[in-house]
Amino acid sequence: MAEFEGLAEPGSVEAELLRKIDRARMPRHIAVIMDGNGRWAGLRNLPRVSGHRAGMESVREIVETSAKLGLEVLTLYAFSVENWKRPRSEVRMLMNLLKEYVRREIKHIGESNIRFRPIGRIHELEPSVQRVLEQAVRSTRDNSGMLLYVALNYGGRAELVDAFNRMRRRTGRAGTMRAITEEMLTQHLYTAGAPDPDLLIRTSGEMRISNFLLWQIAYSEIHVTPTLWPDFRRRHLFEAIVDFQQRSRRYGGL
Ligand code: IPE
Ligand code: IPE
Ligand code: MG
Repeated sequence: MAEFEGLAEPGSVEAELLRKIDRARMPRHIAVIMDGNGRWAGLRNLPRVSGHRAGMESVREIVETSAKLGLEVLTLYAFSVENWKRPRSEVRMLMNLLKEYVRREIKHIGESNIRFRPIGRIHELEPSVQRVLEQAVRSTRDNSGMLLYVALNYGGRAELVDAFNRMRRRTGRAGTMRAITEEMLTQHLYTAGAPDPDLLIRTSGEMRISNFLLWQIAYSEIHVTPTLWPDFRRRHLFEAIVDFQQRSRRYGGL
């Protein structure tokens, strides 16, 4: 249990769940659709931004716990290409919170040997956000621990379109393009080089994908919890992993 030390108080619910986790069958990559911040705030008669702020605490705990669990990759869906449809004031607050989170947490992320990588159409974000992200990427790029993808201005369809366009540019004039293979496409995704998610978690009970990692989740196990993202803590992550380890993954075989 050495690696799992410090993740739970003896006798706690978390310790009980950890005991059920088989270290030999850990997911390599967990992806999370962090949903329910607005509803969390609404239930408390608070403005939606309070829910987003509370959700930052969940991000902090889940990132730290995932690294301690020895995950290779954690992907967090933070802002979709569709989220621009929200009122400008909410978008602005989300971007400000993002900058605040990265500025505040990057030192700790670095010390935890985590590599920080935003994925999505980052060039379309406002310059001040891009600068903070670039700085975070630069300061963690030599780390060898968990890879933390944060999906920002991300869409699964946009990622596929970007991948096809990159392939097209690389192969030159139309007509000279080689037949596309699954391997080629995979190598042109934002997540090139990373294993596909073994486990996809969605909070707040919604049974949909909302344009997340469409290609990569072909055989991911899906865990939907009614827990709202700001309430999602390490015990819920452990529950998701226990659930994952009870699945039989057949990949179409027997
Ligand atoms: C998830 O919470 C955060 C983002 C999508 C940015 P929501 O803001 O979607 O919260 P709900 O779904 O309205 O409760
Ligand atoms: C998905 O949540 C996107 C993120 C978590 C960033 P949404 O709240 O935007 O998804 P829908 O609108 O419920 O599908
Ligand atoms: Mg939502």
